[in-house]
Amino acid sequence: MGIKNVVSLPLCLPMISIVLFCVLISTQHCAAATANQNGESLIKKTCKQTEFPDVCSSTLESDPRSSNAVDVRGLSRIGLELVFTKGEETVKVAHDLVIQIGIGYDTWARRAGCMSSYNLSIHNVKEKGLPNFDAKRYKDAYQILENAWTEIHYCSTLNVPELAERNTIMTKFLTALKTILHLLF
Ligand SMILES: *[C@@H]1O[C@H](CO)[C@@H](O)[C@H](O)[C@H]1NC(C)=O
Repeated sequence: MGIKNVVSLPLCLPMISIVLFCVLISTQHCAAATANQNGESLIKKTCKQTEFPDVCSSTLESDPRSSNAVDVRGLSRIGLELVFTKGEETVKVAHDLVIQIGIGYDTWARRAGCMSSYNLSIHNVKEKGLPNFDAKRYKDAYQILENAWTEIHYCSTLNVPELAERNTIMTKFLTALKTILHLLF
């Protein structure tokens, strides 16, 4: 009996390690899953407070980092970066429209107007909005978003049908993001 116990303990050690290892691994999985769920509900919970919860959620969710955001501040920062990355796509689309051949001056001018509006606003968000945000000057960052909204709304008045859907989504997202940012001050 005594010998058997002495022998079985070392034999059991690897088993114990494996069990411990598994517990650790599953805890980590569990923690990650919980963080994810918290992140998702944070997005939904935060976006619900805005005027456009659907556009707000779908845009934020398009960035995998959003689900790991732990608070409204983290979510806002990702939102600001998304204004730039999503807007950059639109600048490219607008640029392709501007360089199309065989379009009249009027069409060219309206497309070029949209391209500048988008480019100006997204660069302002990146180069002024983000630094203000990081320095906790939330009101200044808010103002930059307000200006971006005005610029992109201006594009929607220029009647460029190819950009209409993007304008709608961007103005809605900017409106929602302003509301979220306003929760910080
Ligand atoms: C957008 O703005 C940036 C910075 O002002 C500039 O360097 C870039 O050439 C502009 N792009 C377009 C397509 O106008």
